[in-house]
Amino acid sequence: MALIFAIESSCDETSVAITRDGKLLSNVINTQIEVHQKYGGVMPEIASRLHCENISLVLKEALEKADVKLEDIDAFAVTRGPGLIGALHVGMQCAKTLAMLYKKPLIPVHHLAGHIYANEFNEELKFPLLAVVVSGGNSELVIMKDHMNFEIIGETRDDAIGECYDKVARVLGLPYPGGIPIDKLAKEGEHTYHLPTPLSGEHTYDMSFSGLKTNVINLVHNLQQKGEEIRVADMCRSFQDVAVGMVISRAVKAIQEYNVKQVVLAGGVSANSYLRSEMVKECEKLNAHIIIPPMWCCTDNAAMIAKVAEHLYEMKVFAGLDLGVDPNWSIEKWNEFQN
Ligand code: KG4
Repeated sequence: MALIFAIESSCDETSVAITRDGKLLSNVINTQIEVHQKYGGVMPEIASRLHCENISLVLKEALEKADVKLEDIDAFAVTRGPGLIGALHVGMQCAKTLAMLYKKPLIPVHHLAGHIYANEFNEELKFPLLAVVVSGGNSELVIMKDHMNFEIIGETRDDAIGECYDKVARVLGLPYPGGIPIDKLAKEGEHTYHLPTPLSGEHTYDMSFSGLKTNVINLVHNLQQKGEEIRVADMCRSFQDVAVGMVISRAVKAIQEYNVKQVVLAGGVSANSYLRSEMVKECEKLNAHIIIPPMWCCTDNAAMIAKVAEHLYEMKVFAGLDLGVDPNWSIEKWNEFQN
């Protein structure tokens, strides 16, 4: 084990974490959410600029909280992708500079592997495992037969589920990030609006959210044109039932087919209360153990990057200083570091 320094900057959180022998010493997160709220979504150029402004402050605070010095660090880890290209670059340049300066290994980490491994702060991972990865940029069902072994069995064919939550929220006049108000209002509403379930006739683990989003937008516009009332809570409930229902139906099929021992929820949308409670119920019925991540693990943070880096440090998976970021990096290619 080792003293690991990790950076996360793939979207709108600048974060630095330090772990020693698996123990979390510090995890400082600077979120830009308030800035992006004005635009109803993340503005990539603004995100990159704010990462530049914040990274050295976050770094300093993480070192102070952990009470360690840069010269004591054994390896520098960084999110290489997926994410916003400009935002990823800021973390990558910082990690490469530190690795070069202190002559220590550079460890590139896959962001979604981070979301999965964040669960290791709470429980040991057991295999075969199904990871339900649902975030603002990705929606994937991943089977793991062992550590750092990922097979994508299903993914969205268009938009990510979180992106769909955010767009639906915007058309309903709810604040960004849309998942939070929709989750809350759905509890007060009834499923009274009919929204067709995409890909319902197909035997597939894939998902599709773009058509669902368009259906909600068209329905809202039609009601507005007719001057009819939009029952926002009912709309939230109807939308959420279909969107989350799609994830749950695929996960249930995968648990059975792959004889899954453990299910982990990962990514920003795993904070969703309906997804959590339904997955707990389904896993009980199917005798699969489920790990529900604590809320702090659902949002982006560098602690999860450090957790993966600990494994990679043991496996000696290091990269050269010519490493570049990859905004579309597939989790199945987590150990390929081509530019
Ligand atoms: O993982 P994340 O922080 O961003 C990416 O790295 O992509 O996830 C952010 C997404 C946003 O789209 C947000 O609306 C959604 O997670 N989200 C939720 C909830 N809380 C956050 N979606 C549904 N229900 C929630 N409670």
